[in-house]
Amino acid sequence: MSPKSIAILGLLVCGVSHAQPATLKDAFQGIFRIGAAVNQSQFDEKDARGDSIIAAQFNTISPENALKWESIHPRLDSYNFDPADHYVAFGEKNKMFIIGHCLVWHSQVPRSVFQDDKGAPLTRDALLERMHDHIRTVVGRYKGRIGGWDVVNEALNEDGTMRKSQWLNIIGDDFIAKAFQFAHEADPKAELYYNDYSLENEAKRKGAVELIKKLKAQGVPITAIGLQGHDKMDWPTAAQQADTIEAFAALGIKVNITELDVDVLPRTAPGNSADVSATSAGGSGSNPYTAGLPDAVQQALAQRYAELFKIFVKYRASITRITFWGVTDGDSWLNGFPVRGRTNYPLLFDREGKTKPAFTSVISTAKEVK
Ligand code: GLA
Repeated sequence: MSPKSIAILGLLVCGVSHAQPATLKDAFQGIFRIGAAVNQSQFDEKDARGDSIIAAQFNTISPENALKWESIHPRLDSYNFDPADHYVAFGEKNKMFIIGHCLVWHSQVPRSVFQDDKGAPLTRDALLERMHDHIRTVVGRYKGRIGGWDVVNEALNEDGTMRKSQWLNIIGDDFIAKAFQFAHEADPKAELYYNDYSLENEAKRKGAVELIKKLKAQGVPITAIGLQGHDKMDWPTAAQQADTIEAFAALGIKVNITELDVDVLPRTAPGNSADVSATSAGGSGSNPYTAGLPDAVQQALAQRYAELFKIFVKYRASITRITFWGVTDGDSWLNGFPVRGRTNYPLLFDREGKTKPAFTSVISTAKEVK
């Protein structure tokens, strides 16, 4: 047999008997990047099951906690770079697009950041200098290695007004423009994002649209909006999701879905807030699936993911990245939020690391456009 026919035979044999199951990153190649938030045991390569899923399935990662202010800069005079260094090295080893999350946020930041050495509130100039120093140090350290930064996280209230955080109270509403300017100075090639939850609700979305318009008018270098995507089975509706993507794409920025998960458990409080401080007590019936997810709910989750991904695929020209907030169901923050100690099933891989029906339904949405 000629070498050519051996090669063809080889391809046929491989194609028939050794066909690899599709992976997320292959399925969405050329459509958008697909990622996951990773925890310390994963980027330290101590979670063999999680690590093999990450390497096989994803081409971008976000740090669940390692780059938040309180983790990387726990005291005013000292940084803790070790975990973040490992995170970035892990991403490079796996040839991934590496996200930095997050520079300026009202949560998971030490109170001392906003106070002078006597505990009194800092002046505007002093806080700006602290913010500048933090951004210059952290972004500068990973210059050219971290490809995109959540520069400001969650600066808006549900009604679209600016959240009265210490950043706003002390600096004023130009704290956002300043944070972007400092990040751009520290790494001019990095993508820079504004990231928030519940932007699918009209009032908050309008506030964000106005904010982005204002930043663009001032020449602030913003690449994309991050829609966190902490979703429910019935929220956002398909129409809310589509309208939201359209509204931001119309401003000439890209759209990323940055923290995707779908909460299958009963609501314990009204609304859809992903505000990390909005915990609640639970109560009877709030944790119904401790013995496993009933098939009907499993199938409903698969359909819900298909509904969302059909919209993402439709708007693929505007979307550059979809990142899940966690790898397997066991890793998810939703086992502890808004009620502690529940058993949730929000992701595409189960607690054993096996693909769920939702994985297959997500992959099938990519096939429709290929
Ligand atoms: C917010 C933050 C994330 C994470 C999630 C919950 O969405 O942006 O960093 O804390 O809450 O884990």
